[in-house]
Amino acid sequence: MTAQLIDGNALSRQLRADVTARVTALKANGITPGLAVVLVGENAASQVYVRNKVKACEDTGMHSVLERWPATMTEAELLARVDALNADTTIHGILVQLPLPAHIDAQKVIEAISPAKDVDGFHIASAGALMTGMPGFWPCTPYGCMKMLESIGYELKGKHAVVIGRSNIVGKPMALMLLQQNATVTICHSATKDLKAMTLQADVIVAAVGKRNVLTADMVKAGAVVLDVGMNRNDEGKLCGDVDFEGVKQVAGWITPVPGGVGPMTITMLMVNTLESAERTERR
Ligand code: GUN
Repeated sequence: MTAQLIDGNALSRQLRADVTARVTALKANGITPGLAVVLVGENAASQVYVRNKVKACEDTGMHSVLERWPATMTEAELLARVDALNADTTIHGILVQLPLPAHIDAQKVIEAISPAKDVDGFHIASAGALMTGMPGFWPCTPYGCMKMLESIGYELKGKHAVVIGRSNIVGKPMALMLLQQNATVTICHSATKDLKAMTLQADVIVAAVGKRNVLTADMVKAGAVVLDVGMNRNDEGKLCGDVDFEGVKQVAGWITPVPGGVGPMTITMLMVNTLESAERTERR
């Protein structure tokens, strides 16, 4: 059997077309959704990510501001910028690109962002809202994974989902979102004793570790849905995920590729969150 692909590029195009239409409607009411992206320092990967985020805003008709600051920026200076953006009524979403230079306390900066503009969903208020099922912004990568499951009409109720990885940005919120849809959820991590024993029981596997070949064909039940959040390079320097794609696709029922899977969905959900933030101001 060969798994069916869940195409993140195609799904992103669909969702972004919907975002564009809603942006147009909002603009007709005098509101242009605006995203501020703040980059501190010269991290090469971050530069690519922020460019893509700004481009996605342009493509969907949103306003965006890219602030680039030197790595020598102090924590106090960055907190002052966040305060200014909190007060800026043209900005509906604030994203401070991580990682930040070591002398800046990233959590402190995240907590300074108004929860109403926390389109990354990293603020503890957003995390608490997700945990309790209250309205709030969901972190974009796991939110994108949920949209991928929705796109194939997958019913999570009563299914066993195994999440590999427990980061605050992906693993933990992913587990909560799956739980909210009534899946039975197992979180595996670096101290898990027998990962294969866990994944073999899974109907859905989300691999979010940041290491190649964390999931191989012998670890997957026939027909399982496999979502690959990893972004790694193989020995030839080619982009690859956490999943041994060639092997696992022979066993799984559905699988996301890397590139062209979860990656594009992350930025798409950032657009959705920013739009929804602007729509909320309209309703106020
Ligand atoms: N660095 C890598 N991914 C992300 C993300 O989704 N948001 C932010 N703020 N920083 C990141």
